[in-house]
Amino acid sequence: MIEENIGTTDPSSRSLGNPDIAQREYKQLLCLSRPSYKMPIPVGWFCVSYSDELKIGESKPLRYFDTDLVLFRTESGRAVLLDAYCPHLGAHLGYGIHEEVGHGGRIEGETIVCPFHAWRFNAEGECVEVPYASKIPPKAKGRPCIRAWPVRELNGVISAWHHPKGADPLWEVLKYEEANSDEWGEQTRFEWTVNTPMQEMSENAADPAHFLYVHRVHDMPQWDIKYDGHLSQGVQNVNFRTPRGSVAGSISSVANGPGQGTTRFSGLCETFLMGLTTPIDHCTSHVRFIFIQAKADEGSNIAKGLLRDIVKQFEEDKPIWEHKRYRPLPILCDGDGPIASFRKWYSQFYSDFDVGML
Ligand code: FES
Ligand SMILES: [Fe+2]
Repeated sequence: MIEENIGTTDPSSRSLGNPDIAQREYKQLLCLSRPSYKMPIPVGWFCVSYSDELKIGESKPLRYFDTDLVLFRTESGRAVLLDAYCPHLGAHLGYGIHEEVGHGGRIEGETIVCPFHAWRFNAEGECVEVPYASKIPPKAKGRPCIRAWPVRELNGVISAWHHPKGADPLWEVLKYEEANSDEWGEQTRFEWTVNTPMQEMSENAADPAHFLYVHRVHDMPQWDIKYDGHLSQGVQNVNFRTPRGSVAGSISSVANGPGQGTTRFSGLCETFLMGLTTPIDHCTSHVRFIFIQAKADEGSNIAKGLLRDIVKQFEEDKPIWEHKRYRPLPILCDGDGPIASFRKWYSQFYSDFDVGML
């Protein structure tokens, strides 16, 4: 795989004449000549773990945001995400050497202990003890010496805030009634690693035409999509086809930034879907689908059939995403959806990037 960082390459520096033409040619070059491509890692909240996959006292290595990380849960129950490498001599805090809970560095109280020389770090990334030294080195004392990522734990999911310049969160993770209510059932989960930047998958929602040909639906979906700040919202009235005829219903989706999407299916069988996408690196994404169905419907054949259909649709899209190329200047027709509006909305999540490049 040829990889280039398109975010730091200045096309105008290659220009011998008109810089607009040079940029256009450069964009086409990006599309046509490479077997794969990168896109920037967007700003936002992204799922890094299910809550029930991180026990108290457990730490584990992760790799998201093109960064090595350690995730741990302190004795008080707080989930903490730090950059992986110890500022002392560089050990990975997510790989322990003794019999710890899980596989990472030992957790003591609210801190993690580096497996190499036992320096201890708190949830803010400050060193709080060097057990064999008379004092903590000034560079590590009273201030973070490892990056600590903003974390939220809601809806049975641990989310981390990514901003390439380290800015504080610009919006919050939303809490969903369906994930926190006795009237709704258990989470049913599906996961995929997809060899595509996450923007490509999100564009699915602004592309009704592919539903006819990839998903073989009978009628082209008619969405009303609104883009508003970091939110996008779409509503669609549908007729679900069942063996007993068609049932009127609706599908409504909300994207709370690029990483946290929800879809509510109503009419046939009340179903809530959290679609959580996390960038592993510039060209690979981790997708989690978490379904929660109303207890009254959970387990019915219709409920199972709906889940099967949604998962099938994702798996129909996957080979297209994994083998396509991003067209920054696509030729569109009048039957296409709001691709340009979607891309404009999405570009806000590339905070440090020249969006004219895409
Ligand atoms: S490398 Fe972490 S304490 Fe030495
Ligand atoms: Fe699709």
